[in-house]
Amino acid sequence: MNPLPIHTIICVVCWSYWLSPFCALSRLLPDKTLSAGSTITSHDGTFALGFFPPSSSGTKHYYVGIWYKNIPQDNIVWVANRAMPIADPSSATLAFTNRSNLALSDTNGQLFWTTNISAAGNSLSEATGGEATLENNGNFILWSSQGTILWQSFDYPTDTLLPGMKLRITHRTHALQRLISWRNPQDPSPGNFSYGADPDEFLQRFIWNGSTPYRRSPVWNKFVEVGQYIESIKSTIYFTLQPIDDEVYISFGLPAPSVSSLVLMKMDCSGKIKIRTWNSNMSKWTDLQSEPNQECNKFGYCGPFGYCDNTQSIVTCKCLDGFEPNNKQDWTARRFSQGCQRMEALRCAQGDGFLNVSTMKVPDQFLYVKNRSLDECITECTSNCSCMAYAYANMGTKVINGDETRCLLWIGDLIDTEKLIGEGENLYIRVNGFNGPVELQ
Ligand SMILES: *[C@@H]1O[C@H](CO)[C@@H](O)[C@H](O)[C@H]1NC(C)=O
Ligand SMILES: *[C@@H]1O[C@H](CO)[C@@H](O)[C@H](O)[C@H]1NC(C)=O
Ligand SMILES: *[C@@H]1O[C@H](CO)[C@@H](O)[C@H](O)[C@H]1NC(C)=O
Ligand SMILES: *[C@@H]1O[C@H](CO)[C@@H](O)[C@H](O)[C@H]1NC(C)=O
Ligand SMILES: *[C@@H]1O[C@H](CO)[C@@H](O)[C@H](O)[C@H]1NC(C)=O
Ligand SMILES: *[C@@H]1O[C@H](CO)[C@@H](O)[C@H](O)[C@H]1NC(C)=O
Ligand SMILES: *[C@@H]1O[C@H](CO)[C@@H](O)[C@H](O)[C@H]1NC(C)=O
Ligand SMILES: *[C@@H]1O[C@H](CO)[C@@H](O)[C@H](O)[C@H]1NC(C)=O
Repeated sequence: MNPLPIHTIICVVCWSYWLSPFCALSRLLPDKTLSAGSTITSHDGTFALGFFPPSSSGTKHYYVGIWYKNIPQDNIVWVANRAMPIADPSSATLAFTNRSNLALSDTNGQLFWTTNISAAGNSLSEATGGEATLENNGNFILWSSQGTILWQSFDYPTDTLLPGMKLRITHRTHALQRLISWRNPQDPSPGNFSYGADPDEFLQRFIWNGSTPYRRSPVWNKFVEVGQYIESIKSTIYFTLQPIDDEVYISFGLPAPSVSSLVLMKMDCSGKIKIRTWNSNMSKWTDLQSEPNQECNKFGYCGPFGYCDNTQSIVTCKCLDGFEPNNKQDWTARRFSQGCQRMEALRCAQGDGFLNVSTMKVPDQFLYVKNRSLDECITECTSNCSCMAYAYANMGTKVINGDETRCLLWIGDLIDTEKLIGEGENLYIRVNGFNGPVELQ
């Protein structure tokens, strides 16, 4: 046994004075409890875990969560009992149960939250909790007495992803994960907006409003997506697809030597997915990205065969080349939902061509054909008259089933297409080859 650390002794002293705001433990041990007023802090002091009331006025509800210790506002990154608030924090504690689980309960025996790990499959010593610590990256870990991880908060995201945290986007043996917004800024209970992979296709993610798609991310076309260089943190954020065991996860982060960890991704309760960084000079959060940013970035806003043109000073809907508005009056009145129609009917084998449109967010509802070379992908589309478009990419690494190709075909309408600035990919759209409006490929 290690000698009893000083802070444990201090906390035995302040244990009963839950109003004392200065009682910070570095870990939770099986014979100790955490109650309101005391916190567990990460070694470097970045994060704290404890009881908090999210609103400063009105009915106070208490939650156990993790927050940035040195950031005064919007600092909560994880909540344990988000749907089960505690009305009277003076009788509630977070503690080990039978040495193998953590539970948040009160003296009346009400259970607000638990890690709920079953002993099945673990040997007794592995299933026996040794201690719980809050790591410098914000991960709250329940360690077995053998030093293996029994449970960690990073496996249970709420509305926020921190660098190093992963969101599961496939569902082979485990459920898909989503970030779920707070109900409102004062209420961490699950709100209407969620963010995660399309359940049918891990290559794209959605924001949903309830069960309705609200915003679709660009489709992955490589395994690591490098974001813009950000002057304030002197670094570049990257997003990556990571296969682990038989599932695929997304995560984001900063290159290894980068010190600043004050960056997060959050499903905001207004419906936006945000990448934010804490600007300590100005003492406020700066949104590096906030999506959807414009009306026409919302899902399907420009209708079939329309697209949202982000390159213009006034971001608005346009018809793809070779197409015109279905209803010109509506279109002029900025009602875009009916979309666009072909100016000239397709002739199929008698002479269709493909328009090359660059820097696009490619449409929704694609067919992902596995293991095709570029030429095979083109043939796949040209030889089938119902194929309206294709896009091809090499993902850069054979991470998924040994296949690095990504051949996408569109059979029906092209919906939720966008023209992006400085990113995106080439989309090849089938048009009538004679009198084609633009040069064909
Ligand atoms: C614990 O997990 C079991 C099995 O997954 C589930 O049936 C039970 O409702 C859970 N209990 C709590 C308190 O979450
Ligand atoms: C501890 O209790 C939980 C819930 O009652 C149970 O599922 C688990 O198997 C127990 N663990 C041990 C090591 O007894
Ligand atoms: C969430 O959606 C429901 C119905 O879908 C609606 O009644 C409610 O007002 C919405 N809540 C918020 C906070 O937007
Ligand atoms: C989300 O959906 C609800 C209806 O279910 C609607 O009232 C609300 O305006 C929508 N929110 C946004 C941001 O579109
Ligand atoms: C904060 O201010 C210092 C000194 O003016 C500057 O060097 C630093 O880059 C600023 N940091 C941020 C995040 O803006
Ligand atoms: C399509 O256009 C882009 C950008 O102009 C170009 O880089 C690409 O090579 C073109 N594709 C083909 C097949 O020519
Ligand atoms: C891909 O297709 C080639 C033949 O075109 C085949 O030899 C190879 O085994 C396939 N690879 C996978 C991973 O399916
Ligand atoms: C064209 O592709 C669609 C979708 O894969 C398929 O259902 C259809 O049978 C194909 N048509 C031909 C003529 O191959």
